[in-house]
Amino acid sequence: MVRILSADEPGAAEAAAARLARGELVALPTETVYGLAADAADGRAVAAIYAAKARPRFNPLIAHVASIEMATQHVVFDAAVRNLAEHFWPGPLTMVLPASSASDIHVLARAGLPTIAVRMPRGIARDVIEGLGRPVVAPSANPSGKVSPTSAAHVARMLGGRVDLVLDGGPSSVGVESTIVRLEADRIVLLRPGGLSREAIEAASGLPVISAAADAPIEAPGQMLSHYAPHGLVRLDATDVRPSEWLVRFGGGPVAGEGEAAGVSQLSLAGDIAEAAANLFAVLAELDAARVERIAVMPIPREGIGEAVNDRLARAAAPRDIVEG
Ligand code: TXA
Ligand code: MG
Repeated sequence: MVRILSADEPGAAEAAAARLARGELVALPTETVYGLAADAADGRAVAAIYAAKARPRFNPLIAHVASIEMATQHVVFDAAVRNLAEHFWPGPLTMVLPASSASDIHVLARAGLPTIAVRMPRGIARDVIEGLGRPVVAPSANPSGKVSPTSAAHVARMLGGRVDLVLDGGPSSVGVESTIVRLEADRIVLLRPGGLSREAIEAASGLPVISAAADAPIEAPGQMLSHYAPHGLVRLDATDVRPSEWLVRFGGGPVAGEGEAAGVSQLSLAGDIAEAAANLFAVLAELDAARVERIAVMPIPREGIGEAVNDRLARAAAPRDIVEG
């Protein structure tokens, strides 16, 4: 049985750090989603993460740090990187940076790449890393190809037998994964839209944020997979409900055919995009658990964190022949 420990329990962060130091896997709450954490320098623990998630070994992991100082021991930090880190860390920003030769982050964690993706999470996850004293790799705590968990119960349901301890920090406040970027001299390339909006990154950096070109090789290997695939078929930007569909609402407006809906879930009654992001994966997980077959999702604005919400929904709606196992 998996042990669930409240993050408010005295000594919770220290207990989690001690387990990581022994090479165990611990699920940690972060502001984005729950992560499955291991000591980044411990090759056996890193291998256990790939096994627990059934994750392809070519898909690298994010190294989570407790301070800018800790990050600079593992990746090359220039002034532009430092500026973004100072603006947004701790928070939902991941930067893909050249690995420094001194880094002892295990090569398996970066899937052999010359770069390491780094971020500093908020809250108890950061305390745990601080306690361990070195970086922690933490992919989202879901089996590969499933929605990311935003609560301890969701982690326990999906990975129960494969994780030693889940720290329960309540529902994740942001609800979608971090934004992943790569920096160039005169622009920033968005590898994964996420919890930090492109507008915020543009304002802080003074540089344009461009999407990775659709025809370019995929740079965040996890993005090539149709992740977040629920059991049911998903229809996006629905302005009506068709027979036997389950309606996923955004806001309170009328929707044609709603009376015939198989059921209704609400992302945000107030039409608030941040609230919709926070609720998104829990709603998809519920529809999955209920084995809902057809899902109609109302249009959701694309500004700010809406870009990430629409990205995740598009993946949920992607054709199933590209779903990874
Ligand atoms: O919000 C988050 O980022 C969560 C929480 C737990 O921190 N973590 C997370 O990790 O979403 P994961 O493993 O589910 O997604 C990490 C993504 C993958 O798409 C992976 O391919 C990409 O980051 N990635 C990792 N290292 C990379 C690198 N060196 N270059 C390019 N992409 C990288
Ligand atoms: Mg993931």
